[in-house]
Amino acid sequence: MEILGFLRKHHERFISGAEISRALRVSRTAVWKHVGSLRSAGFSIEAHPSQGYRLTEEPDLLLPADLQEGLQTRFVARELHHLLSTDSTNRVARDLAAKGAPEGTTVIAEAQTRGRGRLGRTWFSPPRTNLYASIILRPRIPMPSVPQLTLVGAVAACRAIGRVYNGPGELGPRIKWPNDILMGGRKVSGTLVEAASLGEMLDYVVLGIGVNVNLEEKDLPTELAATATSLLIAGGRKVSRKTLACALFEEIEATYERFRAEGFAKLSGEYAALSDIWGRQVRVTLSEGVIEGTAEGLDSDGALRVSLAGGASERILAGDVQLLR
Ligand code: BTN
Repeated sequence: MEILGFLRKHHERFISGAEISRALRVSRTAVWKHVGSLRSAGFSIEAHPSQGYRLTEEPDLLLPADLQEGLQTRFVARELHHLLSTDSTNRVARDLAAKGAPEGTTVIAEAQTRGRGRLGRTWFSPPRTNLYASIILRPRIPMPSVPQLTLVGAVAACRAIGRVYNGPGELGPRIKWPNDILMGGRKVSGTLVEAASLGEMLDYVVLGIGVNVNLEEKDLPTELAATATSLLIAGGRKVSRKTLACALFEEIEATYERFRAEGFAKLSGEYAALSDIWGRQVRVTLSEGVIEGTAEGLDSDGALRVSLAGGASERILAGDVQLLR
């Protein structure tokens, strides 16, 4: 993106293709091609036959150089891959991880063509309004503890959203076990954790997070209209995706570091405090059927405790929770 930097620096005047190619030591064809791809990414670049190019308008993109400017992390998003469009950032991050990408390597995309959700669902991923990010982590934990990273991601997403949101308190972000972030009872964010092992050992984990940021009510597909929301819908104003992305990466690093140093038990109290499902009637879909009861609390390993009508209590390790009332 050196060409973009050059165009930005000289945005008040036209600069010729020859000048750019000389300054950046690239061919004029490369300049021309790059200008073309910037345009298709939404940049307005005026071209004048004898004077050259001038940048007149920039789209709101999550460009790594801009994003990393104010980012306060040690390893998360220090290696940052930005894509205008991809099938799924989790798929890209998995490929990078399999080739040995270091912990913290992050993939963000402006749009996804096959965004993936939990339980084989799809994740609605239109261009340039939301946040789609996947972070590679390499914790030394046993495979059975991997689902706890979903809860780590939920704490981080809830805290990051809380940092940028300043609408009415009752619409503020809350966790619905295991990973949904709800605002006013509708889903604003979700986390998809995918792990790969090397024999018995965990090799890497990809923590994928999607947040609906500036999506408008009218842009929600009909099937999501009642259940999904965005920060714009909940808070009534646009939110800077860059500010939110930085907050998210910082919260992920901080929460993950605590998880790594102290284990999930120490985080469970905070997780429980960020959730308001306690005491509510829930229907939980499990692989072996459906149960209904009251969401009682969270065990120190992250399992959801549900009390059933007869007084018995069930520990849920994986399932889909629906709030009944
Ligand atoms: C859920 O079902 O709640 C999880 C949704 C996770 C969506 C994110 S968007 C970025 C990353 N890439 C994907 O394909 N999925 C995750």
